[in-house]
Amino acid sequence: MEKRELLYEGKAKKLFTTDDPDLLISEFKDDLTAFNGAKKSSEAGKGALNNKISTELFKLLEAKGVPTHFVEMMDDNHMIHKRVDVIKIEVIVRNIATGSLSKNLGIKDGTVLPFTLVEFDYKNDELGDPKLNDQHCLILGLVDSQDELEELRAKARQVNDILRPYFAEKGLNLVDFKLEFGKDKNGTIILVDEISPDNCRFWDMESGEKLDKDRFRQGLGGLKVAYEQVLNRILG
Ligand code: C5P
Repeated sequence: MEKRELLYEGKAKKLFTTDDPDLLISEFKDDLTAFNGAKKSSEAGKGALNNKISTELFKLLEAKGVPTHFVEMMDDNHMIHKRVDVIKIEVIVRNIATGSLSKNLGIKDGTVLPFTLVEFDYKNDELGDPKLNDQHCLILGLVDSQDELEELRAKARQVNDILRPYFAEKGLNLVDFKLEFGKDKNGTIILVDEISPDNCRFWDMESGEKLDKDRFRQGLGGLKVAYEQVLNRILG
């Protein structure tokens, strides 16, 4: 399989067409951005780590019955995956309050939530990814029906129910994460994008150490070592 035409360049990935119209290749970049692109940097090797972590997690989820766009890891920085129509909703799943939830609602950082919270953000950089309620999603035509919103919520909870205990066994708290979904050529909603420390928060259960992109957002340093730790715990 070969990369052909550049379809789209995002903040963390480039998307290429291939010789198969149903498949695309994502190139995982080393670039880092935060605060809607206001803070930028790059860390050599970060893209490869996210590709490897996402590959392992997509394989795990597929094995547990969650359909994803994953086909195969091509090399260190490239993943082959299905071509889908991406739903422009970022599905945020939270087990512990931190980040924008603590900032916006004043919930003390580190509070374990009484139940898993699922939120929708509009995947729209120009508008700064604002929060959406169900009616916003329907008015904007981001999905076709209320049933599809319920399906996104159910799938997000299913992913959390698999990944939270999986990481707990490896000594990591899955604090929160962002998922994206798309519709494949049959109209089936499947999990897309990536699952990596760029879009999940992992806290070490013993030390509380942050092993995710907050190291960059908060200027803590040691990002690559943290991402390596996440990969090693997955592989170990
Ligand atoms: O910033 P906030 O607290 O809303 O982030 C919640 C979770 O969603 C975090 O794990 C963060 O990495 C992820 N996220 C993301 N992309 C965004 C917004 C949030 O990956 N645009």
